[in-house]
Amino acid sequence: MNEILVIEDLSKSFGAVMASDKVNFSLKRGEIHALIGPNGAGKSTLIKQIIGEIRQDSGSILLDGLEVSNQNVPTRIRLGLARTFQITNVISDFSVFQNLLLALIGIEKKEFTFFSKAVSNKLLVEKVNKILDETELSEKKDEVAVRLSHGERRQLEIGLALALSPKVILLDEPMAGLSVDIIEKMKKSFMKIKAKVPVLLIEHDMDVVFAIADRISVLVNGTIVATGAARDIRMNREVKKAYLGID
Ligand SMILES: Nc1ncnc2c1ncn2[C@@H]1O[C@H](COP(=O)(O)OP(=O)(O)OP(=O)(O)O)[C@@H](O)[C@H]1O
Ligand SMILES: [Mg+2]
Repeated sequence: MNEILVIEDLSKSFGAVMASDKVNFSLKRGEIHALIGPNGAGKSTLIKQIIGEIRQDSGSILLDGLEVSNQNVPTRIRLGLARTFQITNVISDFSVFQNLLLALIGIEKKEFTFFSKAVSNKLLVEKVNKILDETELSEKKDEVAVRLSHGERRQLEIGLALALSPKVILLDEPMAGLSVDIIEKMKKSFMKIKAKVPVLLIEHDMDVVFAIADRISVLVNGTIVATGAARDIRMNREVKKAYLGID
């Protein structure tokens, strides 16, 4: 199956506000699918429903063919949904490398009870190095987490999400407020990640979106008004009017 995540007729209202109004959306293997739309369109609410933080009023969410819309957050994460959090379990006194290693030990904990043992495990170290490369953090591997910049910490958070070997990764404005060079690194990183883990990306910066997204969906007032390849969305009249403010 080409579509790893499928959302069908998902609806959620907050009082009179329809944050999701029969949303249909899919994430395909190998793609970066950007979700764009004006402030208050319902982008974050959609991601929160996918991960399970907010329960939908109606509709369904299928991950790899399995209905997850009634599962709790930990179950969904175990089934392969990943998102990054502002508050993560980054250990400040540990290096970037050690943080990632620890995350992997957490997953394979039956085998590695002691950190010292894990450090000398070739396979585990290879996995850490792979994630360092995928998140453009190789140069920072020995940096203690507390000394990372705001942006580097976000990169590490993405790395920690990848350590869980998720089926999809959900990112709500991961680049907001970051410097140009970190944004460039993240763009490169997502291009590397997507073959293994498709990315659902909420992003306001249209230059970023048009540069890396394979598909774009436009959400306005809880409704997807267009989905398509980046070049088609750029030309779409309704999108120009509703979102980009051009008639
Ligand atoms: N917990 C909540 N209770 C009540 N209303 C909410 C709640 N969460 C979101 N809303 C409302 O639902 C709508 C969609 O909000 P949401 O945060 O999903 O938008 P968004 O597209 O992520 O916007 P932004 O681009 O500003 O992040 C808004 O009108 C918002 O005020
Ligand atoms: Mg939001």
